Amino acid sequence: QNEKVALFIIFGGSGDLARRKLYPSLFRLYQKGYLKDHFAVVGTARRPWTNEYYHNIIKESLADLKPDDAQATAFADHFYYQSHDVTNTEHYVVLRDLAAKLDQKYQLNGNRIYYMAMSPRFFGVIVGHLKSEQILTDAGFNRLIIEKPFGHDFQSAKELNSEIRTSFSEDQIYRIDHYLGKEMVQNISAIRFGNNIIESLWNNRYIDNIQITLSESLGVEERAGYYETAGAMRDMVQNHISQIATLLAMEPPVSFSAEDIRNEKIKVLRSLHIDTIEEAKRNFVRGQYGAATIDGQQLDNYRDADQVATDSNTETFVAGKMEFENFRWSGVPFFVRTGKRLAQKATRVDIVFKQVPQNIFKAASDNDELAPNVLTIYIEPTEGFGLRANAKQIGQGYATRPVDLDFRHSARATANSPEAYERLLLDALNGDSTNFTHWDELAQTWRFADVIEQAWAQEPAADFPNYVSGSMGPKAADELLARDGAKWVFDP
Ligand code: BG6
Repeated sequence: QNEKVALFIIFGGSGDLARRKLYPSLFRLYQKGYLKDHFAVVGTARRPWTNEYYHNIIKESLADLKPDDAQATAFADHFYYQSHDVTNTEHYVVLRDLAAKLDQKYQLNGNRIYYMAMSPRFFGVIVGHLKSEQILTDAGFNRLIIEKPFGHDFQSAKELNSEIRTSFSEDQIYRIDHYLGKEMVQNISAIRFGNNIIESLWNNRYIDNIQITLSESLGVEERAGYYETAGAMRDMVQNHISQIATLLAMEPPVSFSAEDIRNEKIKVLRSLHIDTIEEAKRNFVRGQYGAATIDGQQLDNYRDADQVATDSNTETFVAGKMEFENFRWSGVPFFVRTGKRLAQKATRVDIVFKQVPQNIFKAASDNDELAPNVLTIYIEPTEGFGLRANAKQIGQGYATRPVDLDFRHSARATANSPEAYERLLLDALNGDSTNFTHWDELAQTWRFADVIEQAWAQEPAADFPNYVSGSMGPKAADELLARDGAKWVFDP
């Protein structure tokens, strides 16, 4: 009875995202019985592929899952390819007929999911045609899943949103932020709202600062063409980091429903401090990676990568301070950082608590200060959480030392946990938009990001490249915290 019924129309069916994420995720839903007999997928792209060729592409994309051959073939049989020029109205007529035929063949009740997995400059034109050429159905559901980037700044995001809203209502729009599909990002709410000892301390009386780190060890690889137009601010901070900060900062929702959560997210984002240009220059640090040799491997400068300008100003690193101006958070900085070619791939949140009012063990210790309590939420690559507490050192006297209470999911449990895209696709099939981004959230995070972009646009980054590959970014990222008497907890 868990079987979902829908036709997927994927724009960008030959692309990297479809092959790396969407097809394997759909297959896992198929293996688990969520997709069975009553689904079909139309992949569209410019290339003139045959269905047969497309089926091979689908099967190739499943290789990592080591599927049973017969099962992979049966799955691929639900896929149809249509060569499609998104600006050509006649192609939508062909698409409408194909969709109607498949609807009948697989008894899909008019349920449709439209997936935008291609260059965002075509989102508007596609969505317009879906309506004008009557591909949207009256019978079942019509849901639009949109990949990032959703706009380039507030203005373009707003224009894109208005275009989309002419064909879809807000509750039909599923703006993907794949971090919201990650197991441990979803666990933030469970840790906060399921534990009184945590939620009761979750405010500016007990928390000194919060640190969000999304560090990556890889460089831009083949995506420099896109990355040059985005940079780390638009690629990671405006979306993934802002979403994590929002989940950490929001008030407890009345219930765990999409609507109640969304209301709290929007509310707390309204209290997000939008910097002035001068504040942005102080509160945000940018970086760009430079060459290094690591384990005998020669890593080059970002500026030497293919499709990157030799004097590129694009930031591959950002560190900064976000602030929520409300009763709960006033005075607590949320320090965030992300970057390419850093020391490790690691996504984590460190919540640093205030010190006890007085250190009565001072006389017995070498240190004047006790170590602060830190609650760490490990998002990737390991999943779990840890609490750093102070305890007495064994032996005479009263010296203290920090001890770690650590919980990690076993590798086995995490290997079976649904991949972010799989989870989000199933949510969309169920009509559950809890883990998607509402327009009001996006609008506010763009307003926030825009000022920082404007501040940076005023002066080129004279010191780029300013961090070596394999480090944790430029020195200025440490100085940023030092100014507030803090330091990065995660320092590999
Ligand atoms: C994407 C960014 O949204 O997230 C990429 O565009 C980044 O630049 C990626 O590498 C990181 O995602 P994950 O799931 O590998 O942490």
